[in-house]
Amino acid sequence: MISFKPSKLCSPKQAAQVSHAVAPVVYQVHAARLGPLASIRLAAISHQGCASQQPTPLPGRRNFSTTRVGQLQDVFPAKETPFIRRTPPAWEHPGYTEEELLAVTPGHRQPKTVGDWVAWKLVRLARWATDFATGIGREQQVDMKNPTTSVTSQKPLTEAQWLVRIIFLESIAGVPGMVGGMLRHLHSLRRLKRDNGWIETLLEESYNERMHLLVALTLGKPGWLMKTMILGAQGVFFNAMFLSYLISPKISHRFVGYLEEEAVHTYTRLIREIENGDLPKWSDPSFTVPDIAVTYWRMPEGKRTMRDLFLYIRADEAVHRGVNHTLSNLKQKEDPNPFVSVYGANEEQHKPKAALKPAGYERAEVIG
Ligand SMILES: [Fe+2]
Ligand SMILES: [Fe+2]
Repeated sequence: MISFKPSKLCSPKQAAQVSHAVAPVVYQVHAARLGPLASIRLAAISHQGCASQQPTPLPGRRNFSTTRVGQLQDVFPAKETPFIRRTPPAWEHPGYTEEELLAVTPGHRQPKTVGDWVAWKLVRLARWATDFATGIGREQQVDMKNPTTSVTSQKPLTEAQWLVRIIFLESIAGVPGMVGGMLRHLHSLRRLKRDNGWIETLLEESYNERMHLLVALTLGKPGWLMKTMILGAQGVFFNAMFLSYLISPKISHRFVGYLEEEAVHTYTRLIREIENGDLPKWSDPSFTVPDIAVTYWRMPEGKRTMRDLFLYIRADEAVHRGVNHTLSNLKQKEDPNPFVSVYGANEEQHKPKAALKPAGYERAEVIG
């Protein structure tokens, strides 16, 4: 069963707002009747109400507010100190135009080498495990002959399933960039060599993924089960990435490229289900996004719906996809990072635009 864990940390207004976000999710879990296994999985998302300020729920009644709120409360209020007013992000988001947001499409790079094939199969395994863990039934599956590009299914996912999936995946997605950046940084220090601009891009990727997670956490709070799963997954994944990046950074970047293909696929499907009105809460244009997202992506007025939010996140994932597939194609120790390099006046056509090329750039296209 889904736990409704009391907390004394929030005001009645915050409780109503958080409840507003989670209530439909909880309701849909019951409505969907996903079976006992799914119930355990979805117990991961728990409600954080205020026991001291809310009446004890009567048996058989939902103990959440149905008060409508126009905007979610940010759940990470800035710490107030005597001197500091604001802590801006270290990496400002470059932003996207409307055309760039809409131009992103799911795509798949065909494996060419044994390393590619290993990376692809590992990602397929991860996708299968995620589908299983989020209780996705057969009718909710897309065409599994084209798992990365097909986004239609007989039945949509519920908002609860989406939340579990997004929070879990984003908590994992921030790991590889940090591992790669850290190892390249250490390599530069101990070998007394330049890095050629890779470190910052990798660290920025991990920062960007963490922002996705922080935004997702404003939509629902994980319970103890999901927190435990996240803890265990990070322990395993960090160490696996650490070893694999030491052994073969090329295959590791390919693996991340394939992982990001899945991320683009996931968000494209989510956007489609929102547009179809399959997700009652998130399809509602009056359900606007949290402040943390508006500030980070500088989302313009009138473009702050959940669809808009996931368009931004999807574009970020498309950038990671193109960057990692491209980096995998380069000579790891000597090639400069083409995404931050300055090109000659007549060579601008070789400058890569990561989001637009799902399979990434071949070495000859960007290095020459
Ligand atoms: Fe992400
Ligand atoms: Fe990503």
